[in-house]
Order: sequence, then structure tokens, then C-alpha cells
Amino acid sequence: MSDVKKLLEQNRQWAAETAEQQPGFFDELSEQQTPKYLWIGCSDSRVPSTQITGMMPGEIFVHRNIANQFSTTDLSCMSVLQYAVEVLKVEHVIVCGHYGCGGVNAALSNQQFGLIDNWLAKIKDVYIQNETKFTPINDEQERSDLMCELNVMAQVQNVCNSTIVQNAWSNGQKLSVHGWCYSLKNGHIKDLDVTHDDESKNHNVYQYQN
Ligand code: CO
Repeated sequence: MSDVKKLLEQNRQWAAETAEQQPGFFDELSEQQTPKYLWIGCSDSRVPSTQITGMMPGEIFVHRNIANQFSTTDLSCMSVLQYAVEVLKVEHVIVCGHYGCGGVNAALSNQQFGLIDNWLAKIKDVYIQNETKFTPINDEQERSDLMCELNVMAQVQNVCNSTIVQNAWSNGQKLSVHGWCYSLKNGHIKDLDVTHDDESKNHNVYQYQN
């Protein structure tokens, strides 16, 4: 059997099992989705949002790209955020990075990898902003772990700085933005404790007047 055919066969098997275990599952989901969570994560195949959080299809709206970047000038992730917040009215935005992220490690290095270097350049900027935190750390693994966490924190802030999130808060919408980091080694997610529930943690220049 070809590699791809195997996927299609497994799909049929999964659909049959799911329909048997949860009658009405597909009927209900095909009508609408009401996810409470937006996940912004890395494209890495080892970090599938729904599986590692024990959720089912329909429960998490997802945007993934290399090294879980969020930029207000990226039409793709901004559209996802706008739809999730304004239409689906998710209550939580979760930026989830992971330790050992290849994108983060590439950004920490001086090697070129092609076009991707331009995508990852924002991580180099986060490194520059936090350079003093790296000074006492010589261990490569520790430096990488720190960079993975700082990258998540920077993307959390980028989400909070967007007019979409700012407007949701000023309209009284309940919305929290979280920063998490997943361990490939034991499957545990670490909450980085950088949750924003309102604009109070934003820099003054990112607090818009209404
Ligand atoms: Co990654």
C-alpha cells in the first residue's frame, strides 16, 4: 500500500470508530463549530494542538507556522485572529511554542537556511532585545530553551498589541492571551505565566484610545 493510501484508509477507520463511539458527532459538527480556543503554534509535526491537549475536532481553532510567529503584518495569521475573536468569539488565545524548536535554533545560529532566514529574523530581534539574559548562560540547550520561551512571550505581546485584541477588550469581550511551551521530551506543556486578560500589561503606546 502506498504511504498516502494508508492515510485514506486510516481516515475511513477513524470516521467509523468515531461515529460508533459518539453517535451524532459528525452531524453536530457539520452544522457549526464553536471552539473556545485559538491555538497559535509551530508547524512541527510533533506538536499537534488537539492531540496533546486531549481535545476533539471542533474544540480548537488553529494557526500554525514555523516557530509560532505572530505578526500584525502577516495577513494569514491576522485573518485567523480576526475571525476567531470577532466571529467565533473564542475566549482564549494560546501561543504555544516548544523546546527544541528547529526554527528558534536556526535563528540563534549564524547559519543560512534560505528564505526561511527572513521569516525567522524576528526571533533574532527578540534575542537582541534580551541579550543580557543570555550572557550568563553558556550551555547551548539552556540558551535554546530560554530563546524558545522568550519567543513565545514576544508573540503573546504581538497578539495583545493587535487592534483586534485591543478592540475586543475595549468592547468588554472576555478574552485571555496565554503563552505556553511544550516539551518534546516528556509531552508536558509549561504555562509561562504571561497571561493577559486586558490591556493593562501592554506598553502605553499600545493602549489605544476609543
Ligand atoms: Co518548532
